[in-house]
Amino acid sequence: MSLIEATQLWRSYWMGGEVVHALRAVDLRVEQGEWVAIIGPSGSGKSTLMHVVGLIDRPTAGTYFLDGVDTASLDDYRLAGLRNRSIGFVFQSFNLIAGETALENVAAPLMYGGVRRVERMQRASAALESVGLGDRMAHDPSQLSGGQQQRVAIARALVTQPRLLLADEPTGNLDTASGAELLGVLRGLHAQGLTVVLITHDQRVAAAADRVIEMTDGYVVSDRRRGESPMEPAPA
Ligand SMILES: Nc1ncnc2c1ncn2[C@@H]1O[C@H](COP(=O)(O)OP(=O)(O)OP(=O)(O)O)[C@@H](O)[C@H]1O
Ligand SMILES: [Mg+2]
Repeated sequence: MSLIEATQLWRSYWMGGEVVHALRAVDLRVEQGEWVAIIGPSGSGKSTLMHVVGLIDRPTAGTYFLDGVDTASLDDYRLAGLRNRSIGFVFQSFNLIAGETALENVAAPLMYGGVRRVERMQRASAALESVGLGDRMAHDPSQLSGGQQQRVAIARALVTQPRLLLADEPTGNLDTASGAELLGVLRGLHAQGLTVVLITHDQRVAAAADRVIEMTDGYVVSDRRRGESPMEPAPA
């Protein structure tokens, strides 16, 4: 079974008598180890899809199996447990805790897993090393560049050793050089077998992915693997 198997996902919002369909009959299948970029205009449903795939939100209709588990069968507590074990998140804004060192920020997700402090610090420092920040562990986020802060956020997302990294515009707040550096980090993680699904407006990031999914108005309108010719848009 694929790591992600979502079928006919809908996510609809009711706002003052009006319904907004953020996702319309989205099918998504992602294999272990793939790197998928999601592109599309503002409001097309990209973040909504990421929230459903990331178990932050539930679909209004449709089925979603993560690593063979039917997520609809899980209550909120179990869903959160599966999320914490399986998924690492990175957002456009780095969401680091000010006043805590990079090391403490990265170690924070391990607090909930009953991991002893010594091991938490060892794993956090290894995660920081893996994103090239072994020499910045004691720095406060305010003492780091944007690119460095985003690499801390990636280390924090990975310290729990998730199966899947989800990122929503990870280079959106970075200058060109920092964005390129972050792309290098993502390439390395993918090469080590991590499954990556990210939303991006950055052409270089999309070009580096194995596969690019384009959304418009809640639909997946194209889904192409590197080296394949573009598919015709799916009928609405
Ligand atoms: N909590 C909510 N309540 C009502 N409507 C929502 C909610 N969240 C998203 N929407 C609507 O769903 C649609 C898709 O939103 P979404 O955030 O997924 O878009 P997006 O593709 O991520 O856009 P952007 O590129 O601007 O981040 C939009 O029309 C949005 O207004
Ligand atoms: Mg969004």
